[in-house]
Formats: sequence, structure tokens, C-alpha cells
Amino acid sequence: MSNLIPVLTKEEIEKAVSDIARKISSDYKGCDLILIGVLKGAFIFLSDLVRQLTIPVKVDFIGLSSYGLETSPSQSIHLTKDIEIDLKNKDVLIVEDIIDTGLSLTYLVDHLKKFGPKSVKICSLLDKHERRKADIRIDYIGHIVKKGFLVGYGLDYAEKFRNLPEVYHLKT
Ligand code: IMP
Ligand code: MG
Repeated sequence: MSNLIPVLTKEEIEKAVSDIARKISSDYKGCDLILIGVLKGAFIFLSDLVRQLTIPVKVDFIGLSSYGLETSPSQSIHLTKDIEIDLKNKDVLIVEDIIDTGLSLTYLVDHLKKFGPKSVKICSLLDKHERRKADIRIDYIGHIVKKGFLVGYGLDYAEKFRNLPEVYHLKT
């Protein structure tokens, strides 16, 4: 574990999740809200977040995969699992683990808009600025991180470390 440097403690994560849940519960009062978790990284954040919301909500998941982002961004992202709930005239909130280049999110927002939702907003536990390429507005952010590859609390490296309850910087 010596190559794992602590970045966020359980307490810091819990506070970020409850702060975001409070804002969402107030902003979406009386709305038809659908949360869409981006697989697989957002599964833990989403499950903690929904349990703190005080408004009715529906949950769905979408799967994205990317290869060779560096070489050809627009063609490198594809869906591995599409949504199942009808989004027509609904308020949609995408729930992400971390936003890095922003390219997957740009793809995802365009994709979801095709279903005719009333609104599409973005919520991410982590906002990493180091490699941002797309100009996207993140509506709810847990923590801003400058750089580094992070693991834990859903985030993986080669499918490992998702189960760690805290967030770490993986030093290579
Ligand atoms: P983006 O398209 O570059 O914004 O990256 C989106 C996805 O890449 C995120 O939703 C994560 O699943 C993954 N990712 C980006 N940075 C990290 C990281 O530091 N650790 C683990 N996964 C990451
Ligand atoms: Mg993700």
C-alpha cells in the first residue's frame, strides 16, 4: 500500500456527499429527477448520494468506454450500456466519479439530449483540472484536485482499488 498516498478521508468524502445531496434536494424540489450513474466508477458515490436525498428520484446507469483518447478523441468513446428509463421532459443529473479531460462527458451530454430531457446537469465527486480538453460546466462538485491518478471509492486502476473507502493518489 506504500504507493497509495491519501487524498480524501472518509470524513471529507461524507461531508462532500451530504453537501451535494442537500443542494440537489433543494434545487430539484418538485421536479421529475433522474440520476444517471456513469459505470463503473460512479457506483459508490451514487449509492451514497441517493441515500442522502430528501426528494423522490429515479436511478439509471450508463456505461462508457474509451480507447486511445490521446489520438482521436471524438471517435474513441463508445457506449457499453445505454439507459433504460424514458428521459422525455425529465430533469437529468449525470453522476460521475471524476472528470478529467471532459471528453466522455461531452459525448454523454450530447447522447442524453437526443432523448428530449427537460434539463441535463452534471454532478461529479472529483474535478481534476490537469488534462481538461473540453469546456464543460460542472454543476455540483465534491472536491477539486489538481493532478495525479486517483483510486478508491469507486475509482480504479486496471479494475483494482474500487473498494477502498477513501481516495488515494496512486504513485507509479
Ligand atoms: P475524461 O473523459 O477524461 O473526463 O475521463 C472520464 C473517466 O476516466 C472518468 O469518469 C473515470 O472513469 C476515468 N478517470 C479519469 N481520471 C481518473 C483517475 O484519476 N482515476 C481513475 N479513473 C479516472
Ligand atoms: Mg467515470
